[in-house]
Amino acid sequence: MTEEMPVILNDKYLADFVRKDELDGIAPCIMAAAEILEKKSGQGNDFLGWLDLPTIYPKTEEYARIKETALKIQKQCDVLIVIGIGGSYLGARAALEFLKTPQYNELKKETPNIYFVGNNISADHLTNIFSLCEGKEVCVNVISKSGTTTEPAIAFRIFKEYMENRYGKEEAVKRIYCTTDKAKGTLKSLADDLGYETFVVPDDVGGRFSVLTAVGLLPLAVAGVDLDALMNGALKAYEDAKESDLQKNHCYRYAAYRNILYRKGKTVEVSCSYEPCFAMMCEWIKQLYGESEGKDGKGIYPTSAIFSTDLHSLGQYIQDGSRILFETVYHIQKTHSDVVIQHIADNFDGLNFLAGKHLQEVNDNAFMGTMLSHVEGGVPNMVLELPDVSEATLGYLIYFLEKACAISGYLLGVNPFDQPGVEGYKKNMFALLGKPGYEDLAETLTKKLS
Ligand code: PA5
Repeated sequence: MTEEMPVILNDKYLADFVRKDELDGIAPCIMAAAEILEKKSGQGNDFLGWLDLPTIYPKTEEYARIKETALKIQKQCDVLIVIGIGGSYLGARAALEFLKTPQYNELKKETPNIYFVGNNISADHLTNIFSLCEGKEVCVNVISKSGTTTEPAIAFRIFKEYMENRYGKEEAVKRIYCTTDKAKGTLKSLADDLGYETFVVPDDVGGRFSVLTAVGLLPLAVAGVDLDALMNGALKAYEDAKESDLQKNHCYRYAAYRNILYRKGKTVEVSCSYEPCFAMMCEWIKQLYGESEGKDGKGIYPTSAIFSTDLHSLGQYIQDGSRILFETVYHIQKTHSDVVIQHIADNFDGLNFLAGKHLQEVNDNAFMGTMLSHVEGGVPNMVLELPDVSEATLGYLIYFLEKACAISGYLLGVNPFDQPGVEGYKKNMFALLGKPGYEDLAETLTKKLS
């Protein structure tokens, strides 16, 4: 890896929206938030295990076992079913699509297809996945820190039955891998009773900060991702984020700008990219920031767009609608492949002016043209420059965004590491489904619905 920072914040296009003295003004608050984080003295300080993961985790027995088990799973199956939701799902899928493209499953390769289930309650989704398993050897990685989340629990109940019917109980045990709490929860008890191989979601790492643990790393290793390069990237971000000069600390500067823009009424952040491989990363970012910041009546609403696709759907609003938006553009400088536009003799489409150009160049011009236009329309733009779609870049970006998120939460004065608001829908759903213990609530809800 080079000594340069793989992720660079380009703030040139914020000049019309944020003055230098505003950045200077917020710098002491950023440093105070960073100190609270480093000293582990702030709210939610029992969920800071992710902070030191890049230095600690690669040295663990579990990390070595993840690599060994991934090789075993690659030999055992053609299809790995990954069951999980929220933080126990998004990171692995986002990283897989970033590194291996959204077409990973359709591509010719040596590694198993990976299908994600338990992240919704759709019968069609499950049924389609079962049909994709026909004639294929299957393994399952069920991921749930609590071991009790309804969506993955339902999916696992169904897949456990499928695996036992198909392979017999003894062989099914050898093909089911659990990632869960080290000691408690339904899944852990079951794994201990039946003898599934287990991996741990550390106590002090919340779901949305867990992608660099077995939660994300086991499925990624099965897909052939270079875990060492990923963790080294995160380690570089860990080191770079220690810089105390805000001008040199791109991670802290990103958090600072977000907070300044929020205070100016820019309450919606559109994370966007010109590469479809970033679409699921946007989903991961939305969970990371939405669940961490959106509480106590505060927080930036995270949304996303993939351009140029969404310029033909959301472009009008961004250019011209309510002026509550700012954009964070993830500009990928080099993708896996390249396509050059050819000269055509009859020039039937009038596009010969593009002949000889690389698609990347056309895409970059779309990016620059759009940014200038959106800025002109009153939408502040920040650009996070990513050199490529490598493991090192991704590891760096993951840690960079996690740390910026924690700082952002402390700046807002919220606990970035809890998610009390997620419980509301669960209680109502349990009551409506007749779960024992929820009778009173069921009666109230039934009246409201009638
Ligand atoms: O970030 C979080 O904590 C949540 O999104 C959880 O990851 C999600 O609710 C799944 O929880 P669990 O892993 O306990 O099944």
